[in-house]
Amino acid sequence: MTTQQASATPDLPLDMIIFGGTGDLSFRKLLPALYMAHLHCNLPPETRILTIGRKPWSRDEYISQFMEEKAKPFIDKKAFDATAWDKFLALFEYVRMNVDSAEDYLSLKEASREGVRRVFYLATSPDLFTNICDNLSSAGLIDANSRVVLEKPLGHDLASAQEINNDVGKHFEEAQIYRIDHYLGKETVQNLMVLRFGNPIFGPLWQAPYIKSVQITVAETVGVGSRAGFYDKTGALRDMVQNHLLQLLCIVAMEPPVSLDPDAVRDEKLKVLRSLRPMTPEDIARDTVRGQYTAGAVDGEAVKGYLEEDNVPAGSRAETFVALRARINNWRWANVPFFLRTGKRMQKKLSEIVIEFSELPFSIIPSGGRNYGNRLVIQLQPEESIQLQMLAKEPGSGMHMLPVSLNLDLQQAFTERRAEAYERLLIDVIRGRLTHFMRRDELEAAWAWAEPILDGWAKSGERPRSYSAGTFGPAASTALMTRENAVWVEEESQ
Ligand code: BG6
Repeated sequence: MTTQQASATPDLPLDMIIFGGTGDLSFRKLLPALYMAHLHCNLPPETRILTIGRKPWSRDEYISQFMEEKAKPFIDKKAFDATAWDKFLALFEYVRMNVDSAEDYLSLKEASREGVRRVFYLATSPDLFTNICDNLSSAGLIDANSRVVLEKPLGHDLASAQEINNDVGKHFEEAQIYRIDHYLGKETVQNLMVLRFGNPIFGPLWQAPYIKSVQITVAETVGVGSRAGFYDKTGALRDMVQNHLLQLLCIVAMEPPVSLDPDAVRDEKLKVLRSLRPMTPEDIARDTVRGQYTAGAVDGEAVKGYLEEDNVPAGSRAETFVALRARINNWRWANVPFFLRTGKRMQKKLSEIVIEFSELPFSIIPSGGRNYGNRLVIQLQPEESIQLQMLAKEPGSGMHMLPVSLNLDLQQAFTERRAEAYERLLIDVIRGRLTHFMRRDELEAAWAWAEPILDGWAKSGERPRSYSAGTFGPAASTALMTRENAVWVEEESQ
C-alpha cells in the first residue's frame, strides 16, 4: 500500500470542521492548538472553524459557554493575547446537529463554503466514523481537496479497525486520511529520528548484540478522571500500548528509511510491527502483567482506587497498567527484549526510553562488583533530555570506575517555543504532510499483534493485579524484568 503525499496547497481557504466540537478533546487540546496555530499565523487565510455538537446552543452561547469557559483555561497564559483571541473567535461557527441524521448534514452544507479545503476532524467515538463519512458523502461535502482526521483508538480490535478503514476508505483516498497518534507530534519523539538517523556514532551500535535491552515507559500520575465511560471499555493496552508505545517502539527499532517521505517512514515502521512475534497463551502468561490501581497517594495527596472512581462498574477488570516483554523477530533485534510499560496513577509522570548497551565481556577495572554497561536514556516527558551513562574513574588513588552521565538538556539547548503535539499535527494536516500519521496497514498490524493479548487476558478469567496508586505498578512488573536479568531503571540500586 502506498500513499502519495497530498499536494501542498496551503493557500486554499480552509473550513476546519470538528465533530465532537463540544467534547473533552476539543476544549483540552484541539481548540487551544488551533488558537496557537492562529497566533503564529499558521492557519491559511480565510480559515473558518465549524464545530459540531448536539447541545442546543446558539453561536454566541457556544463562544461564551464553551470557548471562553472551557477552552480558554487550557491556553498557556503566557501565549494569551486578547486581540488575537477575539480574531480567533471570529473564525467560529457552531453547527448543532445529530451526526446520525442524514438531514442534519444539510445545515452543515449550508454553513460550509464551496471551493475550500474541508478538513473533517472526527473527535468522536469511533463507532460514529462510518455514519459520519457516509452522511458527509451523501450530502456532497467530500471532494478531492477534503481531508479527514481520525482520532484513536481506531476500533477496539482488528476486525472493527478494518471495518472502519473500509468504510472511511469508500469516501476518502488513503492520502486524504490522517490517523492521528499525538505521540508522533511530540517534539521529542520526532527528535528520536534525528538522534538515530542524524548521529553516525549510533549507527553501528544500534542492534544486537551491542544493545542488551530496551525499556519504554509512559507513566502518568493522573487517574481515569471523568473518562471512565470511555476508559473502562478501553483499558491501558488499547488506550496506550496499541498506539503510543508501539509507535515509540517502531521508531527505536526501525531500519533507516530511504527518506522522510511518508511512505518511506511508514514502510519501515510497518516492517517492525510485522516482525513483532505474536504472543502465544504461554507468552501472555509469562511476559505480560496487567494491573489496576487501588487507593493510595500521589504527590502527597490521597487518591481513590480505580473501582471507587465515578462511573466505574463494580468489579471492573479494566487494566490501568500494563508491562510486557515484546520480541522482534528480525536480524537486528534477535533476542533483545523490548520492555513496554504504561500506567495511570503511577509514582511520577515520566515518558522515557532506555537503551541498555551490553556490558563488557570482562572488566580489568574494578567497579564495586557491578558490571556496568553504557546506557542511553531519552526522556520525552516531563523534561526533554538525553543522557548517556559512561564509566569514569573515581577520583583518588587506585583505579575504580563508576557510572556518570553526559547530560543534554534539550530545553536549554534550544530555547525556541515548542509547539504542542496537536498544534504541530493540525498544521501537518492543513499542509498535507502525512509522515507523522499512521497508515492503514500500520494500524492493522498493531491491532493484529495486540488483539491476542486482549483475548488471552479475557480467557484467563484472572483479575488485573492490584497496585497502590503512587507506585510503579504491581510487583509482578519487577519480577518480569528479574526473570530476564533486567531491572526498571528507577528500581536499580545505585
Ligand atoms: C491519550 C490517552 O491518548 O494519551 C490518555 O487516551 C492519556 O489516557 C494520554 O492520558 C497521554 O498523553 P500525554 O501527551 O499526556 O502523554
